[in-house]
Amino acid sequence: MALATPGADVPLLQVQGVTLQYKTSEYVVTATHRVDFDVYSSERYVLLGPSGCGKSTLLKAIGGYLSPSEGTIRLKGREVREPGPDRMMVFQEFDQLLPWKTVQENVAFALTASGKASGAEARDRAAHYIEKVGLAKFADSHPHMLSGGMKQRVAIARGMAMEPDVLLMDEPYAALDALTRRRMQEELLQLWDDTRFTVLFVTHSIEEAIRIGTRILLLSPHPGQVKAELNSIPPAELGTAAQAELETRINDMLFVH
Ligand SMILES: Nc1ncnc2c1ncn2[C@@H]1O[C@H](COP(=O)(O)OP(=O)(O)OP(=O)(O)O)[C@@H](O)[C@H]1O
Ligand SMILES: [Mg+2]
Repeated sequence: MALATPGADVPLLQVQGVTLQYKTSEYVVTATHRVDFDVYSSERYVLLGPSGCGKSTLLKAIGGYLSPSEGTIRLKGREVREPGPDRMMVFQEFDQLLPWKTVQENVAFALTASGKASGAEARDRAAHYIEKVGLAKFADSHPHMLSGGMKQRVAIARGMAMEPDVLLMDEPYAALDALTRRRMQEELLQLWDDTRFTVLFVTHSIEEAIRIGTRILLLSPHPGQVKAELNSIPPAELGTAAQAELETRINDMLFVH
């Protein structure tokens, strides 16, 4: 029997009734409780909620680093059981690169190590994505010679070069100053315009959620449960009353009980 190919009406990623827990012999911490959502191809889907509501834990589970204690996670209809190159993660921390490798080598290494590409093909693909994030001039630099924002772009280039089914981004800009953060958000939208990749983006900033997302999932405080799912506004409406209205609406839903 042929597997269903994800089309416009079949979700790429299905999160169904997912409860996530950290268990030791002494305690059980429930990070999320029966969370449901679907992400379709080429969406920019945002998980938004207060600190400790389980956003990173959800991303880790989708990455295959943690198994649900209840519910299932499916990518292209297949249950996620372990990490794989079809789901690439970009973290908040700046130190996710190999310090002894150049920018070019960091990106190419991900391709060769995973068997996605080798030799000249890996080099070409790495160069292509390094150029896309505006770092062609720094391809031969080592991470310690780059600013935090530049390192973050390398991590994004590395994730995108793998051409994953979904790019998982956990507060990738949280440690940046406001101006750089804004620039990186715009760059991400530009990259998305070029390649229409699917991105699952975690943030606790309402403004960032509206700016980055096509859809936004609101999670309640610990343990995270779905409060609502909303459509964001088109980029053309950023800075208008529509943005302010949506911000107020989200704020009310998150903080008024
Ligand atoms: N390794 C761990 N062991 C035990 N408990 C953990 C672990 N990691 C996270 N938790 C707990 O799980 C809950 C959810 O944590 P998580 O990091 O997913 O939250 P978050 O929404 O990403 O928060 P933030 O916005 O601060 O990054 C919290 O109560 C946290 O204390
Ligand atoms: Mg987190």
